[in-house]
Amino acid sequence: MDESHVGKDISATLITEADIQDRLAVLAAQIERDYEGRDLLLVGVLKGAVMMMADLARALDRHIEMDWMAISSYGAGTTSSGVVRILKDLDTDLSGRHVLVVEDIIDTGLTLSWLVANLESRGPASVEICTLLRKPEAEQMSVTVRYVGFDIPDAFVVGYGLDYGERYRNLRSVGTLAPHVYS
Ligand code: IMP
Repeated sequence: MDESHVGKDISATLITEADIQDRLAVLAAQIERDYEGRDLLLVGVLKGAVMMMADLARALDRHIEMDWMAISSYGAGTTSSGVVRILKDLDTDLSGRHVLVVEDIIDTGLTLSWLVANLESRGPASVEICTLLRKPEAEQMSVTVRYVGFDIPDAFVVGYGLDYGERYRNLRSVGTLAPHVYS
């Protein structure tokens, strides 16, 4: 296998491509039921949510709109501070809209708490959250997460949009990195 092959850096696959697609079909059916007769705006958070957004949106057999935000935590640390800066704002006016935030992963939930408060201040009809992955610490979060793909252990994972140093986003599954990647 050549050095540029992305799969060789993965020590264990946590969630397979099939697991993800099966779970998204279940979530999509729930979302269709919950939002029946109402408009739906999916808001994706760049860049991690790109894969989740693409697959969830296509699993939904109804009209939706999609919009994107790019946000960044202040500071260069690896732990989330909860202080957030908007790098790219939505193009859509949220007043009266039903907003579903599509996320890749919730760790501490600090970023998301800030985001939900920010979106709620724009006068939407509702704001809910759909995340593919949730880590244990997120349970202490003040915001309720309506749709969760998988609860996972507190390990650093990559793939399906999630990166380590901007790499591994293009993996179809979610897994942990081999120790040689960090050294
Ligand atoms: P939170 O504010 O601690 O919930 O941070 C959430 C953000 O941290 C996610 O949107 C990811 O960008 C990043 N993150 C948290 N855990 C992981 C992980 O295991 N792999 C890759 N990125 C992660």
